[in-house]
Amino acid sequence: MARISPATIDAVNAQTDIVSLVGEYTRLERRGADWWGCCPFHNEKSPSFHVVPDRKMYHCFGCGKGGGVINFLMEMDKLSFVEAVETLAKKTGIEVVYEGNAGPPIPRDDTKDKLIELYDRVAGSFHWLLLESPHGKKALDYLRSRKVSPEIIEEFRLGYSPADRRWLYGFLTKKGYSRDFLAKSGLFSKKFPESSFFSDRLMFPIMNRKGQVVAFGGRILEGEGPKYLNSGDMPQYKKGETLFAFDRALPEIRQTKSVIFCEGYMDVLAWHQAGMKRAVAPLGTAFTEDQAKLVRSFADTVYLSFDSDTAGQTATYKAILMCRSAGFQVKVVEIKNGKDPADILLNEGPEALIKTLEISIIDLDYLVLSAGKRFDITSPEGKSRASAFLFPYIEALESDIQRESTIQHLSAAFGIREQALLSDYRNRKQPRPVMQSGQIADKPVKARNVKRNAELRAVLAVVANPAFFPLMRSSLTSDDFEDSFARDLYIVLEECYRTDATSVESLLERCPDEETRRIVTETLTGGEFAENAQKTVEDSIQLVRKNVLEKKRDRLVARLAMLKGADQDEARVLGELISEKQRIDEELAKLKDMNE
Ligand code: UTP
Ligand code: MN
Repeated sequence: MARISPATIDAVNAQTDIVSLVGEYTRLERRGADWWGCCPFHNEKSPSFHVVPDRKMYHCFGCGKGGGVINFLMEMDKLSFVEAVETLAKKTGIEVVYEGNAGPPIPRDDTKDKLIELYDRVAGSFHWLLLESPHGKKALDYLRSRKVSPEIIEEFRLGYSPADRRWLYGFLTKKGYSRDFLAKSGLFSKKFPESSFFSDRLMFPIMNRKGQVVAFGGRILEGEGPKYLNSGDMPQYKKGETLFAFDRALPEIRQTKSVIFCEGYMDVLAWHQAGMKRAVAPLGTAFTEDQAKLVRSFADTVYLSFDSDTAGQTATYKAILMCRSAGFQVKVVEIKNGKDPADILLNEGPEALIKTLEISIIDLDYLVLSAGKRFDITSPEGKSRASAFLFPYIEALESDIQRESTIQHLSAAFGIREQALLSDYRNRKQPRPVMQSGQIADKPVKARNVKRNAELRAVLAVVANPAFFPLMRSSLTSDDFEDSFARDLYIVLEECYRTDATSVESLLERCPDEETRRIVTETLTGGEFAENAQKTVEDSIQLVRKNVLEKKRDRLVARLAMLKGADQDEARVLGELISEKQRIDEELAKLKDMNE
């Protein structure tokens, strides 16, 4: 076993500045000779983490962790003693001297470093292909069509993975990488180790907090398949603990003590391009507590900037609860004239996007407004539903004072006596009734009444045959469903799909309520949709698609009727509407042909 000489250890200790080391993980403030901050090891809202530079020690009064620089790095980055010393030695320019008589040093596992080196190189090649090779032209044109600036393409090292799935393997083996190593790299198909996992996609390198590439997300450009493919967890990358663009955003997060949470890669690019560099996003999943913790040490306020569709609203609700539990102040950025921040930037420019941040509203106001849209708060039934919708929020607040003033606020907003509200809150159902998918669009909410309509049958056919979900999501989105059960189940399927969750348990666990779970178990145990699965699924998707298109068409026809005889200005709109109607008619005709 390799041992590091005591002299090296002492030198590393002496040369490392504990305040700046710890400062990379949490914000410290000076008080006298010492420094204080929120503990990076546990979730806390007021600083109990104490750093004493003179002794090169830290101690947390909250969780009891403590030690010196080496131990800090071991705990923080999950390193062994030797790795921690080596890392600090590298930082401080100290040469590591090994000693001992226990035989030859065991080479340490450097898979992580090697993978990071590989990913960095691959990111460089993808970037080159995007900008310099004819193959990348399509992807580059796509970025231009969405007005992504050359600076952003550079800054985020965007790239292009070639359509030829064998290219990467050839390229890397020529550079000397072994077949075994590449097979474990996550860059190739599990079944066909020479075939690239990403192909013909716009590539988003995902960096760790040091700015090293550790994973990729790849957006489809044309053809069939999931919109994004994401790297799975690997030694150098845990998606639940990583935020897209965190390395780029940290300086501004620190400086403004605030962060913008958005849904996806393109939204992050939009915010950064508009000059708001504190935007980050999770990686194909909902925000996790670990991700909130990562940011909590540097920021007090979260701006939630999610899509304006149903799924986005559901995500906003969940994120509010999560961020409040982590001790953040929360503001909601409302996107009205477009679907997401990227649309605003594209259609209205950077000022319009920045404006949405300025007029963002605090989470409580947002929740009260959406409760008002969702429930009929003039009726007693609606009032109690609206308050139940807010209870999880009240629960997530950090102090009784905040809870009390929120209850006062709600009492006024919903016209309920404070006493009644308080006693309802105390008697609320446990476990807390977390508001989830779908219900959000119901207005006013009626008892959920299961009717096996076409929409529900379509989603259930996919529940029974999840392999067909990609097919469904390539032609339908959650907003296409009018039936609230169908919409909920679609969102559940989407979440499972994005997190690669394939078990029935994870499906059931994500269902928003008993009723939905019951339909799922019923369907799965009843053996429904087991035969002719593909045909059933395809037919039912087509049927729903047809309904959606017909409704769209009806709305268009109505608008066209209104516009007839309108003045010149509206001629362009009219033209667009007519051609959209033609497109829909053509697609409907095609669907009809297929059905006959
Ligand atoms: P969006 O569909 O909103 O994508 O999904 P986007 O980033 O805004 O891209 P554009 O504007 O439609 O081109 C939001 C995020 O959800 C994850 C990705 O992280 C994406 O950025 N996602 C989406 C997936 O992981 N897989 C998918 O198939 C779709
Ligand atoms: Mn989007």
